[in-house]
Amino acid sequence: MRKPLISGNWKMNTKLEEAESLVRAMVAELDSIDNVEKVLCPPFISLAAIKELIKGTSIELGAQNMYFEDKGAYTGEISPIMLTDLCDFVILGHSERRQYFAETDELINKKVKKALESGLKPILCVGESLEDNETGRTEQKITRQVNAGLAGVSPTSQLVIAYEPIWAIGTGKAATGKQANTTISLIRSAVANLWDEKTAEAVRLLYGGSVTSSNIAEFIIESDVDGALVGGASLKADEFVSIVRQTSSLKSIR
Ligand code: 13P
Repeated sequence: MRKPLISGNWKMNTKLEEAESLVRAMVAELDSIDNVEKVLCPPFISLAAIKELIKGTSIELGAQNMYFEDKGAYTGEISPIMLTDLCDFVILGHSERRQYFAETDELINKKVKKALESGLKPILCVGESLEDNETGRTEQKITRQVNAGLAGVSPTSQLVIAYEPIWAIGTGKAATGKQANTTISLIRSAVANLWDEKTAEAVRLLYGGSVTSSNIAEFIIESDVDGALVGGASLKADEFVSIVRQTSSLKSIR
């Protein structure tokens, strides 16, 4: 049985003080929910402070990006060895990084390999554009992103993949639970083809894109959806707690 995982991607939001207040507002409640893995991904500059605030709790931390070298002359970048002191997870290949920072499948693949080598669990993001979706190219696009992102990577259940259709991110137009499950099943098959059935069954696959406390149930009840990568709604303590709480209670009937 895969443990459900709910991760909050705060993106480029919250100054240090705001980040600390947000964590203080939800730390106790989140900690009390124990059958869901809870991962907060704040901006880099807040990781150290939040690590202190969640010390001794069941909440984990993730970064939103990293470079694939340990150190050196890479002005502005953050390395895996800087992150391993602070967090367990790292989001890689988010569509916003692909779109605004020209990240390619090849670059993302290097980051995935390096994260795993360094002991960080990658949350690899994949997703099709509206045009791909409307022209029936979702499967082709997703399979290509999975194969390219995992090229040369040894099978591991430490990997998490988030399916985030670009048309659903920040738009308020989430996929339906059924749509998400169909594509996520394709992702599981792609992982099984590339690796093996057993590992594919162990890898957690998340849905992301306009997830809120009002629609989380629709995703969580689906057989292949193991959790969510939440953007906007993770910036509101009560919303995020409700998403985790509903995930926890629905898990038993999956
Ligand atoms: P929203 O939940 O704001 O649509 O963002 C989803 C996302 O991109 C999470 O990584």
